[in-house]
Amino acid sequence: MANDDQKRRAAERALNRVRPGMVLGVGTGSTVNHFIDALGRSGERLEAVVASSEATARRLRALDLPLTDLNQVPGIDLYVDGADEVNAHLQLIKGGGGALTREKICAVAAREFICIVDAAKRVPVLGAFRVPVEVLPMAQSLTARALMKLGGMPELRIGATTDNGNVLLDVDFGHILDPLGLERAVKSLTGVVEVGIFATRRADRLLVGTAAGVEEVTLPAG
Ligand code: A5P
Repeated sequence: MANDDQKRRAAERALNRVRPGMVLGVGTGSTVNHFIDALGRSGERLEAVVASSEATARRLRALDLPLTDLNQVPGIDLYVDGADEVNAHLQLIKGGGGALTREKICAVAAREFICIVDAAKRVPVLGAFRVPVEVLPMAQSLTARALMKLGGMPELRIGATTDNGNVLLDVDFGHILDPLGLERAVKSLTGVVEVGIFATRRADRLLVGTAAGVEEVTLPAG
């Protein structure tokens, strides 16, 4: 079964968690685009929808969904987003689409974060997918050198400018054995706006589209 069908399955399953009157956060990427399409078809009456990128905002507007700014709502009830990699602890690498900063803001603002992926995104150890890091343009070289001191191999994503006007470094750290520690270390570097490791705020629920159906993973409480 093609990855895209698996993505669509996971996305459509996430719709079961959407309730009328919710403030819904919507991520970015091809998996989330299936979710947006399904949301549009459902006719669900939401209180408000917060987008994690300009691309997502455009799709939501086209479907006449009640798009709002995060500052206009007290929080997000449910945030639905994809990922580039996910481990068994529901820690993620995100930002392949370059939207990691706004995605992390939405995830942190959300009461529940559901991650929707195809089966290829599940990994035993994070790190085969390079970690996207959003950096202020004037600090690009400074931050690249600091990332190398942390053991990373950064590469500028040529031609990419984020929705926030910044640049992206894709960083190869090899196997990431301590996602929490690495997230904190990268985030603390001067010039870094955000890092695409989602470990401090990991997903609460994972929906994996597979050839056989949708597998659901939640973490034990505590
Ligand atoms: C966007 O910046 C990313 O975090 C996406 O969530 C991630 O790249 C997943 O993308 P796909 O759903 O297109 O695979």
